[in-house]
Amino acid sequence: KEITIYSPATSANLGPGYDIFGLALEEPYDLVNVEIIESSCKCCEQIKISVSGEKAEEIPLDPTQNTAGVVALKMMEDFNIKECVHIKIQKGIKPGSGLGSSSASCSGVAVAMNKLFNLELDNLKLIKYASLGEAVAAGAPHADNVAPGIMGNFTLTTSYEPLEVLNILLDMDVVVALPNIQVSTKEARKILPQEIPLQKLVNNVGKATGMIHSIYNKDFENLGKYMMGDQVVEPCRATLIEGYDEAKEKVKEFAYGITISGSGPAIIAIPKNKECSSEIAKIFKEIWNCPVYETKVGKGAYEV
Ligand code: HSE
Repeated sequence: KEITIYSPATSANLGPGYDIFGLALEEPYDLVNVEIIESSCKCCEQIKISVSGEKAEEIPLDPTQNTAGVVALKMMEDFNIKECVHIKIQKGIKPGSGLGSSSASCSGVAVAMNKLFNLELDNLKLIKYASLGEAVAAGAPHADNVAPGIMGNFTLTTSYEPLEVLNILLDMDVVVALPNIQVSTKEARKILPQEIPLQKLVNNVGKATGMIHSIYNKDFENLGKYMMGDQVVEPCRATLIEGYDEAKEKVKEFAYGITISGSGPAIIAIPKNKECSSEIAKIFKEIWNCPVYETKVGKGAYEV
């Protein structure tokens, strides 16, 4: 018995929504296959992991070190699952890119285990399990990638203790660049200020609430404007991504907004229309000579 799950890339933060806002993207995506297998040897571990695709060689296969393995192990422990499983991950999302690569594998495994063993877990419980893997990858169990990865569209993780997530339908094109620059999420979190002045809090709450109003009004111009108004996280991280300032300047004409996706180095822009989308893609390629996706907001993880 086996199951395959499409698990989308996600873009977290979107400017002022640090650790709160997230988007599911149609592309790129991981395919996560989980199969119940006969244990081939007496002493074998309960989980076998194989990874192919983008930077597969860098991903640990030990289930206690692999982010998706951690999720599966915890689910097996909590639900007293005794069978052995083979998790096959086909990485379409480059690890360490700022597009929720590890979280896509975590979400995919959580959804697959839920279906394979008829656990009947709701989305919130799946998000909780999937975010355990994020704790391994980023040093903190932030849910702003796994939430859209499971629910799709635009999500707001409005509370962590207890976990609360809201979901808003959003039909919007985006352009995403994956510059070939190393940014570790752990490090990109460490450089952020632990305290901020009240004036910056007021600014960011204003911009974040403005984004929600814009989404409900399908006003992408204002959405882009507010998305670029973060005064706390994006300015700190912008220094880590060479070429970002140049990209910001050059896409002005074609994009309603541009910001860092997650902890970077991926960059996400909202194009004014289809032609603008191609122009933005061209600019990104000229600056970074890197993969660029002209894609749109999409669904959460589903069985294929
Ligand atoms: N909210 C997280 C961060 C997302 O910005 O560190 C990481 O993809």
